[in-house]
Amino acid sequence: VIDPYREIEIGTVGVADADLVDAAVTEAGRSLAAWSATAPATRADILDRTADLLEQRGAEIAATVSAEMGMPITLAAATQRDLPVSVLRSMAAATRAFAWSENIDGAVLHRVPAGIVAAITPWNMPVHQIVAKVAAALAAGCTVVLKPAEATPFDAELIRSCFIDAGVPAQGFAIVNGDGPTTGAALSAHPGLAHVSFTGSVRGGQAVARAAAGALTRTTLELGGKSPAVVLADADLATVIPKVFGSGLVNSGQACNATTRLILPAAHAGRIEELLVAAAGAARLGDPADPSTTHGPLASRIQTDRVLEHIATARESGARFVIGTGETEPSRGSDCFIAPIVLADLPPDAAAVREEIFGPVLVIQYYDDEAQAITLANDCQYGLSAEVWSGSTDHARAVAGELEVGQVKVNGVRTRMRPAVPFGGLKRSGYGRELGAVGLAEFTEIKAVMS
Ligand code: NAI
Ligand code: MG
Repeated sequence: VIDPYREIEIGTVGVADADLVDAAVTEAGRSLAAWSATAPATRADILDRTADLLEQRGAEIAATVSAEMGMPITLAAATQRDLPVSVLRSMAAATRAFAWSENIDGAVLHRVPAGIVAAITPWNMPVHQIVAKVAAALAAGCTVVLKPAEATPFDAELIRSCFIDAGVPAQGFAIVNGDGPTTGAALSAHPGLAHVSFTGSVRGGQAVARAAAGALTRTTLELGGKSPAVVLADADLATVIPKVFGSGLVNSGQACNATTRLILPAAHAGRIEELLVAAAGAARLGDPADPSTTHGPLASRIQTDRVLEHIATARESGARFVIGTGETEPSRGSDCFIAPIVLADLPPDAAAVREEIFGPVLVIQYYDDEAQAITLANDCQYGLSAEVWSGSTDHARAVAGELEVGQVKVNGVRTRMRPAVPFGGLKRSGYGRELGAVGLAEFTEIKAVMS
């Protein structure tokens, strides 16, 4: 495991083979009967205690994520401590309020735990992604085997300790470390599982769904996107443009729902580009451990090279560089720094317009009228998320209704403010939902008793 800022090894983990994976699934199976028999209120209390422990240990957890993948410490505290704390508390509340049984047409419909759940998670928002899956699965009465990303195994150990110390049985939440092709593949093919919940690349998700199909194991796939930020002509540009710049480049663009396509009114292009340049001037690239840093290095040299390749392709397609050059900036402290880039004038079929880059690269698509803005937003193979910005909430909601995505955020609403709202996508962004009661239901099975 390499710290991408200091470019030093911070530790090593093994790669679990199929036998170790099988042992972990077998253990999770042994504790399933006892855990699934606990009262939902007991499980809710344990999630609340986990939230308390995560809050207490949050500084160490945020610092660990920051060292593993270069996330600025201020962002890590907000998204890898505060956000998962809210998710745990909202999942506890959802567990208490959940319709564990209801009457339908003279039958009693019971929601029962699905069984053993595998969670396979990426490195970009590692604690949040683990908690979103594990909290919901445990709330449902399932036991869990987690395979965290090979780049970020240490935060996973810390968050697991919070769950165990809060009262989850040690065998009820196991971790298997390792890479995708070895450990992830063995886990998703394991016949003892009820459900695999995966977040990562489209290729990884396809491999998981294929492997899981062998045992007809259900899957949830959260596969990223190329999400649009639609700024309507009645928006207050001076306030909105810096915020749109910020949400597209959160975590240096390494976020599945980063709004990396800016759908903007052509009539105001000049003013918008001035505001974007000013916003870029306020970005602070540097040591992730410095609380004033807004942009850290990319998570690894491999990720940096992938992004550089995307930028080179965009240049060949005739991109105009509104901001940035697309070179690495080793003077910032490591070879993994790329300063924010905003591109314009790309043809609609250019790779930079259509493919997820997972780096600090935003693409402007100018529109002449609102119908064209909606067409541009929907002309996309992904459908995870979108933002709409307008001076009128009703106007923004009307446009939100036209967008082909799983979630729309109006005027800067954040997941942190609404941790129980379902998250997940359509099209190549995958299927299934996480968070809140909908995310809990994902890990249940329906049993109908007619009498
Ligand atoms: P990845 O999809 O390879 O890795 C994500 C997780 O899946 C890791 O835990 C990995 O070990 C596991 N995995 C990979 N292949 C697997 C397989 N065949 N079977 C089971 N598990 C498997 O993503 P990677 O290589 O880290 O990043 C590549 C690109 O994927 C990024 O540039 C980005 O575009 C996208 N991505 C999207 C994410 C999202 O939040 N939706 C998160 C991470 C990456
Ligand atoms: Mg990979």
